[in-house]
Amino acid sequence: MFKFNFDVEAESSSDLEAVKSPFVDKKKHSEELEANEIQIIEWYQAERVKPIDNLIPTLDFYELNAKEREVGKARIRHLVAGFLLEDIKAQTHLDIKKAEESHSDLIAGVYEGGAKIWECTDDLLTYLAGKYEDDTFWKGKRVLDLGCGSGLLGIYAIKMGAQVDFQDYNKDVLEYITYPNILLNVDETLADEQKLEFLENKTSLYAGDWSHFAVLTKDLDKYDLILTSETIYNIDNQEKLLETFAGRLKPDGIVLVAAKSHYFGVGGGMEQFTDKIKLGKVFQTENVWQAEENLKRGILQLKFKES
Ligand SMILES: C[S@@+](CC[C@H](N)C(=O)[O-])C[C@H]1O[C@@H](n2cnc3c(N)ncnc32)[C@H](O)[C@@H]1O
Repeated sequence: MFKFNFDVEAESSSDLEAVKSPFVDKKKHSEELEANEIQIIEWYQAERVKPIDNLIPTLDFYELNAKEREVGKARIRHLVAGFLLEDIKAQTHLDIKKAEESHSDLIAGVYEGGAKIWECTDDLLTYLAGKYEDDTFWKGKRVLDLGCGSGLLGIYAIKMGAQVDFQDYNKDVLEYITYPNILLNVDETLADEQKLEFLENKTSLYAGDWSHFAVLTKDLDKYDLILTSETIYNIDNQEKLLETFAGRLKPDGIVLVAAKSHYFGVGGGMEQFTDKIKLGKVFQTENVWQAEENLKRGILQLKFKES
């Protein structure tokens, strides 16, 4: 079984709670426990993250570092890879910085990969622009960009008229990458105060582990659409992810998962994830898109099973 390069830390009660999930393969889980193969990580608590104080004053800097891409009818502006930004490089305490120093895309439980834009995000953007090109689909919809990183999926949904929340494991990513990216895409004609008002009142950003996020937001309105890209790589986190879908999705809502068919060295992948969902009997699945290339990628749609 793959192990990330992390230290073993204190046991977390929420991880134990996840064990009771209907999505857990209990036989496999107890075998792993017996073989003492499970790494215990203390996952970060969830919290709502507000914009940092100098976000608006730094907008000019973000503008200089921005790229633009067209997705269907929408133009999305975003920062180039977070690693390259000078203000991130200058701050040694950030988890993003730790990942850069250890030349890792991921450090389980410390930094979960949100600083760069992963390729399945492009797949899902292209899919959304084709399948849901009509603005009327988006108007009034509540959308969650789960494991958002740069947040391009959520930003696309905002541009199409949805009300969007964003979640990423790392607070640093939300503060230094996701918030700037959202800011780069709000109506340019708005005054600075109005831009800040949009960020404070029209969207919510959450950091921390999925299991804690689902608890923190349990009393809030559920989502019509949950978009998530490249979030299924770690098998040990998949139950939490599925619990989050189940807890935060409206009864008639849709989840779209974009992912590779296999994550080498980590064990997760689309086929394995689909099999796990079938074990749980909560969701029905449909493969709605597949890449033709060597490294297979796909988009999986989940809906609640009709009882
Ligand atoms: C590989 S990155 C993908 C980022 C982005 N969706 C993309 O496609 O560019 C994985 C994302 O899942 C989030 N993530 C992974 N494990 C998580 C966990 N246990 N709890 C919360 N978020 C997690 C990370 O914060 C990160 O945003």
